[in-house]
Amino acid sequence: MASSDATTLGGIHAPETSRRDFLYIATGTVAAVGAVATAIPFIAQMNPDASTLAAGGPVDLDVSKIAPGQQVVIRWRERPIFVFHRTPETMKTLQDPKLLSQLSDPNSLQMQQPPYATNATRSIKPEFGVLVGICTHLGCIPVFYPQPNATTPVTDWLGGYFCPCHGSKYDPAGRVFSGVPAPYNLPVPPYTFVSETTIRVGENPSGSVWDFGSIRQL
Ligand code: FES
Repeated sequence: MASSDATTLGGIHAPETSRRDFLYIATGTVAAVGAVATAIPFIAQMNPDASTLAAGGPVDLDVSKIAPGQQVVIRWRERPIFVFHRTPETMKTLQDPKLLSQLSDPNSLQMQQPPYATNATRSIKPEFGVLVGICTHLGCIPVFYPQPNATTPVTDWLGGYFCPCHGSKYDPAGRVFSGVPAPYNLPVPPYTFVSETTIRVGENPSGSVWDFGSIRQL
């Protein structure tokens, strides 16, 4: 897992410092508080040691402890990673024509995910969504609103992620809605299941080669 290069690790490029990074740091703290608070027990249980985190190495998470409908936020390469245990209802919603007709890239044609997550759920296992929690507009952290709601956070909400900075909307698979400021779907990081119940973020499945640096936009 070690790297001799501060900007790359295992073929994965670390982000350049940019205005978007600054905005993420400046605005992310408030938006992420609620989600992170519920995740603390899991993070403490599964966190790698400090040197691994500092090097940006892979991070493991036991997803068996995430109840259906809940989301845990872990940190990988200084970025929030949303891990959502989808309910059967949510998985059904992902294929609802009413939803699909409102999305900018419903079939994930833009390279915002690895090939092994280019499918109807943008994930390896349909019941677990894994997303980089950074809005593709200017880098805020979208807020998790999994349940449909008539008025909150906006009218006729179908469930998913809402970015409070400028109102971008994403579905529960991180697909962006049409007509909002964000141009692309939320990125999916490289990840794999190292056991039935443990995911490793930062590593491709065995036999897959994919460079996170090749995504269209973070
Ligand atoms: S940063 Fe998310 S909508 Fe602008």
